[in-house]
Amino acid sequence: MAAHISKTFLNVLNRGSVSVVNKHHHRSVWVISSCCTRTVSSISAAEPGLTPRLSSHLHGKSYTELHELSLRDPETFWGSIAGERLTWSKRFEQVNDCDLATGRINWFLGGQLNVSVNCLDVHVARDPDRVALIWEKDEPGTEERVTYRELLEATCRLANTLKSYGVKRGDRVAIYMPVSPIAVAAMLACARIGAVHTVVFAGFSSEALAGRIQDAQCKVVITCNQGVRGGRLINLKATVDAAVESCPSVQRVLVARRTDNPISMGKLDTPLEEAMASASPECAPEPMASEDMLFLLYTSGSTGKPKGVVHTQAGYLLYASVTHQHVFDYSPGDVFGCVADIGWITGHSYVVYGPLSNGATSVLFESTPTYPNPGRYWETVQRLGINQFYGAPTAIRLLLKYEESWVKRYDRSSLKTLASVGEPINHEAWEWFYNVVGDARCPLVDTWWQTETGGICIAPRPAHEGGEIRPAMAMRPFFGIQPALMGEKGQTVTGNDVNGALCISKPWPGMARTIFGDHQRFVEAYLKPYPGHYFTGDGAYRTEDGYYQITGRMDDVINISGHRLGTAEIEDALDAHPDVPETAVVGVSHDIKGEVPFAFVVLKEKAMQEQEVVLEELRRLVATKIAKYAVPDHFLVVKRLPKTRSGKIMRRILRKIAMDQTDSLGDVSTLDDPSVVMEIIQAYKQTFRG
Ligand code: WTA
Repeated sequence: MAAHISKTFLNVLNRGSVSVVNKHHHRSVWVISSCCTRTVSSISAAEPGLTPRLSSHLHGKSYTELHELSLRDPETFWGSIAGERLTWSKRFEQVNDCDLATGRINWFLGGQLNVSVNCLDVHVARDPDRVALIWEKDEPGTEERVTYRELLEATCRLANTLKSYGVKRGDRVAIYMPVSPIAVAAMLACARIGAVHTVVFAGFSSEALAGRIQDAQCKVVITCNQGVRGGRLINLKATVDAAVESCPSVQRVLVARRTDNPISMGKLDTPLEEAMASASPECAPEPMASEDMLFLLYTSGSTGKPKGVVHTQAGYLLYASVTHQHVFDYSPGDVFGCVADIGWITGHSYVVYGPLSNGATSVLFESTPTYPNPGRYWETVQRLGINQFYGAPTAIRLLLKYEESWVKRYDRSSLKTLASVGEPINHEAWEWFYNVVGDARCPLVDTWWQTETGGICIAPRPAHEGGEIRPAMAMRPFFGIQPALMGEKGQTVTGNDVNGALCISKPWPGMARTIFGDHQRFVEAYLKPYPGHYFTGDGAYRTEDGYYQITGRMDDVINISGHRLGTAEIEDALDAHPDVPETAVVGVSHDIKGEVPFAFVVLKEKAMQEQEVVLEELRRLVATKIAKYAVPDHFLVVKRLPKTRSGKIMRRILRKIAMDQTDSLGDVSTLDDPSVVMEIIQAYKQTFRG
């Protein structure tokens, strides 16, 4: 393995110092303070995170018994797992102290640990040359491997670089980079020194990036000169330059080099590799309290600006780690291939924290499903020997349109588990993924979860040995998860073969703790709608035999190619146009992307003559304020929007019109002026049916 070690990644480091680390890595046992009695070398004997069991205490129990125990006695269940799987510098005193009514959520109180130690040092102590990351770069066949020792060294150098620019415990650092080893090192470097990272998906515009940096008050931004995706270059540094102009909190921009193209460096900018080369390769990990912040990740809700979802240290890591192992049936030595970007929660939990805490080899997929051809995923599976493949339904729907030979020509015998996330997977996509890709041989697990849940909450695995898997269904709650369905009057819907609003009735270690800077909003959005429960925003159906099937969002959040977006955000961007007094955006179905935005826009009288020009400006506005993928696929210019007497736009009706389902409009009697509906239907017919 060591022979394949990434040349580029090593170039990042000061060549001479690699041997220095070699010489010293035996010393890098983690002794934080005098109170620290457990060192990496002593704890590694117990193989934290490598045991196929949950914990010795829970060994030999069935899924049903364990699930029941996890709800009845979370102290015993999570306490024993946390004690065995995580490496603590100070052992916790109390397993949990939670109150879902007020949003007080605490796990593993009194404990101290460092997430980067759990993801790196523990594995370096046992097996430093194990491959931690395989960077599957855009061009097939150019992958680079990074060992745990190398990743630890890069992490420490980056951590020391951050320190040298004044980043301290609790400070926020924005990471605006596509998936790459240096981006992973950046996340772990923050964790090492107790800084809080906020990774911003590198497809977001400069304004969207600026909004997040401002909200989080980031001190440093880490980016790279350019991104490379599908054979195209993306000028990330230029986007960061534009963003930081309106972000006075930013004191430094660290710029990694992904390509050799020249970039202009301003006075805030520092070349990251150079800074790392002169930084020390060792960095003592900061002991963090279990409930100190680990990261913020901005995500869309039904109202307002994206919110900074807060995840903390121990509970998040434990939950990511346990779900990674047991939902995907990961075993030591497996190559875990999650093709998500680190800009989303899936990348956080199942590219970085889950796999690395388990000592896995995690694939970093930089490319697209169709570059250079629609066989890319399966060629990658063959070349890297991927054992678990975790992807999104939107990509599957795209790929199934091509000849099966794009799949069949590659050897997929390494695959053991297939998995899907991000949106409901339809039957056709499920069957194709299962039969064509998996040769009807590998379990295909549809995993339901959210940015806020930290890790997978409902999935067909774990189950008792060989437990059945129903197509296109997330099925079973994970340990510690108690789903509940709620009716329109706020009552719990009991029994089977029922629908309702999906809630989770007990706190679990991976759940979000708050919204950065706005705990009240956290309580309002998730805990108030159904007091005593966490409300997910999704609807679900419980089958006759008690399995769960997610039916989709119940709020104004839409899901475009698995990317979550609030219709209100798109409306805000459109409303910024001076000729647009009012808009309403709804999601409509799309056979590949799942959903796409459909915008109803009211134009000022004078703009009516030049509609096409204004619409083009609107498209550009959304791309610059949010991201290209947020640009509505359809626009319909209307005179008025349907509103209730209290002035609320009735999106339900607009969605029906946009989906061309006007024969089932439902009740329109609460509208202030029901004639608006006919007016809009007319406009729709004229525009879309000619
Ligand atoms: C949707 C992604 C159906 C859901 C991990 C959820 C799903 C939102 C599934 C969260 C699934 C995610 N089946 N719907 N398996 N997985 N969703 O925060 O609407 O980006 O609320 O987290 O995606 O999106 P987020």
